[in-house]
Amino acid sequence: MIIFNSIEQLQNHLNSIRNQKKSVGFVPTMGALHQGHISLINRAKADSDVVVCSIFVNPTQFNDLSDLDKYPRTLAADCQLLEKANCDIVFAPEVTEMYTEAELDLKKQKIEDKSWTLGKQVDFGMLETVMEGAQRPGHFNGVAQVVSKLFRIVSPDKAYFGQKDFQQLAIIRSMTKQLEMPIQIIACDIIREPNGLAMSSRNERLTKEERSLAAIISQTLYTIKQEYLSKSVGVLKQEALQNIQTVPAITMEYIEISDSDSLQAISDFKQSKSAVVCIAVKLGAVRLIDNVVLY
Ligand code: PAF
Repeated sequence: MIIFNSIEQLQNHLNSIRNQKKSVGFVPTMGALHQGHISLINRAKADSDVVVCSIFVNPTQFNDLSDLDKYPRTLAADCQLLEKANCDIVFAPEVTEMYTEAELDLKKQKIEDKSWTLGKQVDFGMLETVMEGAQRPGHFNGVAQVVSKLFRIVSPDKAYFGQKDFQQLAIIRSMTKQLEMPIQIIACDIIREPNGLAMSSRNERLTKEERSLAAIISQTLYTIKQEYLSKSVGVLKQEALQNIQTVPAITMEYIEISDSDSLQAISDFKQSKSAVVCIAVKLGAVRLIDNVVLY
């Protein structure tokens, strides 16, 4: 496994790989890797000749700067996991390698004009205003900004993302299409702890007791999946809220049943060809999200 910090050196290496007509699979991450990330690497290994994993804690997607400070940075341990998973290349740049000072100016970051951050005006419409977009203003603009940069640097044939960040995946698909990037976006299944908790780097910040309490999040979502044929959207959401409220340590931020493509909230299952239930909660100081595709 080769580790690069410089864009130029990475690109020189990737050019020689492309000259050998080898395909490149790409797994972008912010590090603090767990088995969920490794499942993406395994998937990429299965259908690409060479796998690149980026590890970069992207400052422009944090709307809360203390969250950015607290974000775990575990590069040495991450590289060990990646080596074991037979990843070929790690790209771990410094912030100054990825951004100019002007790009890091947070006041400019917040402007609506996406051509500032993406090089071209794009419109995410409702995808960026509902759920996570409503709770974390500017977050998806930062995600799209860094992923578009990484896509331009790596130029992969395929890029792999976990379905846990369902809305992020929709944003990235839309961005790739609008920027006309010839990259296939592959959605990978959520990997769960034995008690059903969706794997996330944030789980590291939960106590043992909180981890076990967190099982109720996915249980609530799977109950909706079992019952959606016989109950209304309104009743299911109400019962889900009541279920979550049985654990006082957990506060519900939102639960939404939405069309899987537009992410528009639905009030009747007849409105949509495919639907997903998404949830965000606070458990102690940790914010957790999860989702289950209903049909
Ligand atoms: O999902 C993540 O880890 C990040 O949002 C991503 C896609 C690597 C962009 O920083």
